[in-house]
Amino acid sequence: MAQFKVIVTDNIAREGVDILKRDGSIDVDLRPGIKNDELKKIIGDYDAIITRSGTAVTAELVENPGKLKIIGRAGVGLDNVDIEAASKKGIIVMNAPTGNTFAATELTMGIMLAAARKIPLANSSLKSGKWDRKKFMGFQLYNKTLGIIGLGRIGGNVAVRAKGFGMKVIAYDPYIKKNKAEAVGVKLYDTLEDVLKESDVLTVHTPLTSETQNMITAREIGMMKGGVIIINCARGGIVNESDLYDALESGKVFAAGIDVFEEEPPLGNKLLELENVFVTPHIGANTIEGQEGVALLIAEQVVDALHGRAYVNAVNIPFMKTPLPEHMQRYFDLVQKMGKLAAQLVKGRPEEIKIIMVGKNFEEDLCERTFDAPISYQPFTVAALKGFFDITLKDVSYINAPYLAKDRNILVSESKTDQFDKFNDLIVFIIKTDQEEKTIAGTVFSDRSVRIVLFDRFHLDIIAEGTFLYFRNIDRPGIIGKVGTVLGNNQINIAGFDLARQSGGAAIAFVSVDNPISKKVLDEILKIDGLIEARVVRL
Ligand code: NAD
Ligand code: MLT
Repeated sequence: MAQFKVIVTDNIAREGVDILKRDGSIDVDLRPGIKNDELKKIIGDYDAIITRSGTAVTAELVENPGKLKIIGRAGVGLDNVDIEAASKKGIIVMNAPTGNTFAATELTMGIMLAAARKIPLANSSLKSGKWDRKKFMGFQLYNKTLGIIGLGRIGGNVAVRAKGFGMKVIAYDPYIKKNKAEAVGVKLYDTLEDVLKESDVLTVHTPLTSETQNMITAREIGMMKGGVIIINCARGGIVNESDLYDALESGKVFAAGIDVFEEEPPLGNKLLELENVFVTPHIGANTIEGQEGVALLIAEQVVDALHGRAYVNAVNIPFMKTPLPEHMQRYFDLVQKMGKLAAQLVKGRPEEIKIIMVGKNFEEDLCERTFDAPISYQPFTVAALKGFFDITLKDVSYINAPYLAKDRNILVSESKTDQFDKFNDLIVFIIKTDQEEKTIAGTVFSDRSVRIVLFDRFHLDIIAEGTFLYFRNIDRPGIIGKVGTVLGNNQINIAGFDLARQSGGAAIAFVSVDNPISKKVLDEILKIDGLIEARVVRL
C-alpha cells in the first residue's frame, strides 16, 4: 500500500500529476469537480489535497481533518482556502506563487494595450463589416506614467515591460525596500495618494486583504487625473466596481481593463455593459506555460512536504521554507524554552505576550511577511508561542500556535531594538497576565552556548536544558543550605546552581537537577522557613 494519498480536485496540468505518481509512495486520486458534500466525507482519508479554485477549502471541510496534513493551491491567491481554519487544525497551506507570474504579467500588458487602443472594439467593428477609423482614437503609453500598486512578482514584471514601452513607472508598496524598486527602475512612493495623483495608467497587483479591499473607491478615483486608465488583473474587490462604473460613465476614467471581479462569474455586472471596459474571464494565469508552472511547482512542493524534506511556499509556516542559519536556530530553540519557562512560572490569565529581538542578529527579517495568512510573525515569535502553549495544551504546532493565542485574546506583538537592559544581543519574552508581568531574556554567546540571562529584574546565567527547582526566598543565611539538604536526603543530585538577589531582600534560584523532584519533596522544600515559592520547571 502506498504511504500517502493525495486527492486532486481541479484540472491541473498533466506534468504535475506525473510528478505525484512518479514519487512511488503516493496514491493519486483525480477528482476534478467533486462537490464539497462528498469531499467532506472522504477528505480525512487523504494526506494532501491539491486544488486550483474549484474547491472552496472551508472551515467546514477541514473540521474533521483525519490524516490531512497539506492543502496545496495550484496558483497564487489563496482566497478559496480558509487558512485560519486549516492552521488551527495544524494543516500546512501552500501555494505556487511563481508558476504563473509571466502569464499574469503578459495579460496585464495585453489588457492595458487593449484598453488604451480599444483593440477588442476595433476588432469586432471591422469583423461586423465596418471600416470606422475615427472611432478608435487611442491613448499613447509612451511618455505616460504608470502607477503600480503592489510591486511584487507581477507588479515588478509589469514595471520592466512598461519601461520597455517608454513609460515612467512609479509604485506604492509599503512592504518592500526602496532598493527592490530601484532595481527595476521604479520610483517607490511613500503614499498611495502621490501615486494616484501622478498616474496616467494605474494597475493593481496586491493580494486581496482587509487593507487592499476597496483600496480604489470614488475617493481615490477623485484624486486621479481625468482620463486615467485603471487595470485590475489581481483580485476583484481591490477596485470598487460600482465607483469604477460611475467614473467610467462620467469620463473621469478613460477606460478600464479587468480580469477579476467581486463575484465570479460576474453575471449581471453593470461594468460589462460599458464600451470603455475591456474584460477577460479571470484568465491571467491561463497560458500553457503558466498552468504547467503551477502544477509542477505545487506537485513538487507537496511531495517534499509529505516526506518532511521541505515546506516551500507554505504560507502558514513561512520560516520552514529554508533552514534558519545555525546561530538563529539556537535563538529559535532558546525562545521556545523561554516560552515554556514562562508558562510554568507565570501566575494568572495571560493577556499579552511581547517578543523583543535585540541587536544586529535580528536586523534582517528571516522570513518575508505573508499576506495570505491572517497572522504572519517572525519565527521567534511563533517558537515562543509554541513553547508557551506546549506546557498546557496538546498537539501544539508552529502552524496553530499563533491562532491559539488569537483565540485566547492574547495580544501578541514583536519588535526590534538595539539594546535591552545592558545587553545588545538578546531575545526577550515579556508576558503580562491579569496578575503580574514577567520578563525573561536569553542570548546565544559567541562560543554558541545558549543561556537565559534575565528573569524579571534578576540577572542569571542558566543553560536552558533539563529539570530545575526554581525557588524564591527571603534573602537571609541558611535557606539555600536547607534546600540542598532536602534534595540530598532524597537522592536528588544537583547539577548546577544559579542564584540572584536584589537589594530589596528577595532572592531567586534555579537549581538544575539530575533526578525528578516529586510533589512530596517539593512540599518539604516549601516548608523551609523563609521560602516564598518553589516550583519544578522542565525545559
Ligand atoms: P506578490 O506577493 O509577489 O506581490 C504582491 C505585492 O503586494 C507585494 O509586494 C506586497 O508587498 C504588496 N502589497 C500587499 N499589501 C499591500 C498594500 N496594502 N498596499 C500596497 N502593496 C501591498 O504577488 P504576485 O504574485 O505579484 O500576485 C499579485 C496578485 O495577482 C495576487 O492577488 C494574485 O492572486 C493575483 N494574480 C492574479 C492572476 C489572474 O489570473 N488574474 C494570476 C496570478 C496572480
Ligand atoms: C492565481 O491566483 O494564481 C490566479 O488568480 C489564477 C487562478 O486562480 O488559477
